[in-house]
Amino acid sequence: MPLTVVEHPIAMHYLTVLRQRSTSSPVFRAAAKKLAFLLVAEATTDLETKLVEIETPLEGMEAPVLAKPTAAVAVFRAGLGLIDAAVELLPDVKIGYAGVQRNEETAEPMEYYTKFPEMTDARVLILEPMLATGGSLSWAVNKVKEHGATDITAVCVVAAPIGVERMEQEHPDVRVVTAALDRDLDHNFYIRPGLGDMGDRLFGTV
Ligand code: URA
Repeated sequence: MPLTVVEHPIAMHYLTVLRQRSTSSPVFRAAAKKLAFLLVAEATTDLETKLVEIETPLEGMEAPVLAKPTAAVAVFRAGLGLIDAAVELLPDVKIGYAGVQRNEETAEPMEYYTKFPEMTDARVLILEPMLATGGSLSWAVNKVKEHGATDITAVCVVAAPIGVERMEQEHPDVRVVTAALDRDLDHNFYIRPGLGDMGDRLFGTV
């Protein structure tokens, strides 16, 4: 499973903003969106293009446009923090939602809602900011595969080694793009050093 850690200085800057305990929810949301632009750009860096005839104000030319459809699936709740970047950056992107709750005792995913667009021929981005145990992400990947997806990239903000290992074992065909590979998980399955509960911090529910 290819793992890419985005080390762009602007990505590192906004990740630090997200990590800081003192960051307020509005600032956290804005930083998550800005970081997501860079992560989505990396997750689509190899998208195919095709040449089309266009007219500049001065002459005709052949110029590239995206040749492959895209879809983005936000895993509730925290994935909502990355969705605006996908919508604003990707032309004609189709959006899906995957509602999954973490069982606090086992950390395993419990589904409560899914709604997916057509994604058979698309580059499908799964927006799952915190790759902790890998349970939710692996579950979401299974769901989009059942729905026809074959070209899948996970967009994460922070990943833990155990989650990356699980993805390598269960979905070696899925690329993972993240801004950081952190040290480990604590006994509550939170990533350390991490950034806390991404959903709570995005939505002010701490
Ligand atoms: N989900 C979060 O929001 N944070 C973690 O550290 C792990 C899972």
